[in-house]
Amino acid sequence: MALRPADGAGIAAAAARLRRGGLVAFPTETVYGLGADAGDDRAVARIFGAKGRPRFNPLIVHAPDLAAHRAWAVFDERALRLADAFWPGALTLVLPRTPDAPVSRLVSAGLDTVAVRAPDHPVAQALMRAAGCPVAAPSANRSGRLSPTEAGHVAASLGGAADLILDGGPCPGGLESTVLSLTGEVPVLLRPGLVSRDTIESAVGPVETAGPALPGTLPGTPLESPGMLAAHYAPRAPLRLEAGAAQEDGEALLAFGAAPTPGPASGVASGYAAVRNLSPAGDLTEAAANLFRLLHELDALAPDAIAVAPVPEDGLGVAINDRLRRAAARD
Ligand code: TXA
Ligand code: MG
Repeated sequence: MALRPADGAGIAAAAARLRRGGLVAFPTETVYGLGADAGDDRAVARIFGAKGRPRFNPLIVHAPDLAAHRAWAVFDERALRLADAFWPGALTLVLPRTPDAPVSRLVSAGLDTVAVRAPDHPVAQALMRAAGCPVAAPSANRSGRLSPTEAGHVAASLGGAADLILDGGPCPGGLESTVLSLTGEVPVLLRPGLVSRDTIESAVGPVETAGPALPGTLPGTPLESPGMLAAHYAPRAPLRLEAGAAQEDGEALLAFGAAPTPGPASGVASGYAAVRNLSPAGDLTEAAANLFRLLHELDALAPDAIAVAPVPEDGLGVAINDRLRRAAARD
């Protein structure tokens, strides 16, 4: 595994690796992805092996823009409107595959749909344009673990499984894309993410979230969302959500907002093993950007548990709470 700065030479080397069937981790505006040439069955198969990911969980295909994605995905009028409004950006659309789509069937995991996204990050854009192929990329972590928002997280989680890791610094968004299915009459939100439901609804009208739950999924998880198992994004330490003032032995604290954060900086006494704050100002965008990094940091200290302060359930808070609930769920 080689970690390289995401400069011109690093990007050229990464593009060459992709074209030869290699696995390349790269930054996006959401989280780091583990990329492979989506047209290459063997390369895509290697992604599942590297992550320990179940084969029934399909992958997102990344390309620079709408024009490229039209070769493998069928865009109806709604999809065109959403791509126009949100791409490049953190919205993934699940669409029907075109006949003879030039992307591996493995990315669709047996479905007749393909998930597509055009990332808004200069390194991701430069890499995809240099490689000249569609890039299949899940988040660059072992399956079920915390998503990586820094190159070091990728190296720690995947070790030698990636042929090359492009270090482009921390991901500005810090949370994955919103996944929206457009295969039925009404758009269905499969995963809340950086693009809020409200902004999507202002572009295409009402969006559904409800659906029958699979065993091991959270209530409201639609059947057609195979990747949304409840226990996901799991740190090693158990999480205690909606933690109030009371504290238990051996806990670390993940705080949010202006409530006095115990610790030397504030002078508030604390028996917490460690304290981090998602956003002292109570800003949800900042909290999203910090979420996985701070969970990685606290988890590395091996506390008995991580207590998490309440985060408001609106705007980006919906996606933050979704990830926290999954991180707290145990099989
Ligand atoms: O922000 C992101 O979306 C990041 C960056 C790297 O782009 N990628 C990412 O990929 O989070 P991953 O594999 O960790 O999550 C993709 C989600 C999974 O829940 C998967 O089940 C769902 O998208 N998905 C992919 N293809 C699908 C399809 N054809 N139908 C339904 N769900 C799909
Ligand atoms: Mg993931």
